[in-house]
Amino acid sequence: MDWQIMNAPLPSKALRRISRLCDLPTKHWERFYSIMKLRSDPVYAAVALELAGSALPVLDIGCGIGLLAFYLREAGFTPPIAGFDYDPQKIKCAKSMVSRSDYAGLSFMTGDARQGLPECSGHVVILDILQFFTRAEQAALLSAAASRVAPGGRLLIRTCLRDDSPRYRITVVGDWLAKLTFWMKGSPVCYPDRELFESVLTAAGLRVRVQPLWGGTPFNNHLVVAERE
Ligand SMILES: C[S@@+](CC[C@H](N)C(=O)[O-])C[C@H]1O[C@@H](n2cnc3c(N)ncnc32)[C@H](O)[C@@H]1O
Repeated sequence: MDWQIMNAPLPSKALRRISRLCDLPTKHWERFYSIMKLRSDPVYAAVALELAGSALPVLDIGCGIGLLAFYLREAGFTPPIAGFDYDPQKIKCAKSMVSRSDYAGLSFMTGDARQGLPECSGHVVILDILQFFTRAEQAALLSAAASRVAPGGRLLIRTCLRDDSPRYRITVVGDWLAKLTFWMKGSPVCYPDRELFESVLTAAGLRVRVQPLWGGTPFNNHLVVAERE
């Protein structure tokens, strides 16, 4: 399949192909979650756009059930993608989805990003996990991730930014509701601010830009793009 650069999500047919990989009697929740998430979240198309045309491999930290990897394959991105998450159930689900697909070059492994990261030299992606870390752990994770970005590679992070906007306050309330209703396992610990990315990633030799990525949501989500020239 040729690379297709997309600002908009993939066509519904491609998204359904991904969610059908959870089409098992025990996986109704995962199937519902994956189609809703892929249809509504602008982050997958934004990451696909940032990686367009690159031949470098990708490390996805906190990959969940692997939706980004499947999305990138449907978008025609062919380099190896390794997913890493500390929830063994999610990694098991990601592996079972791969085994039901014809996607090649995808691997998933269990591990805690606080204890160290798998080796990689390419692009690194971190979507929606920094709020579960203390500020010191965030800085350590960003340094470790930056050291895995190859020349020409990018570190792509989606996160809520701590600032004085109403969007920030809505995100905090939303995350606590998600925790109280058991939608989310971890409680938010610390939301990073823009200064953290600029200081840690610039010191690691990357050029940093930060752009809003809230799509149709009321949340204060941003995409941080840090490039190694
Ligand atoms: C909100 S989900 C995002 C999933 C995925 N990145 C996506 O966008 O589809 C956050 C993920 O981070 C994982 N996670 C949280 N803390 C982690 C840690 N210390 N090490 C590895 N994974 C972690 C969780 O298990 C969960 O799958």
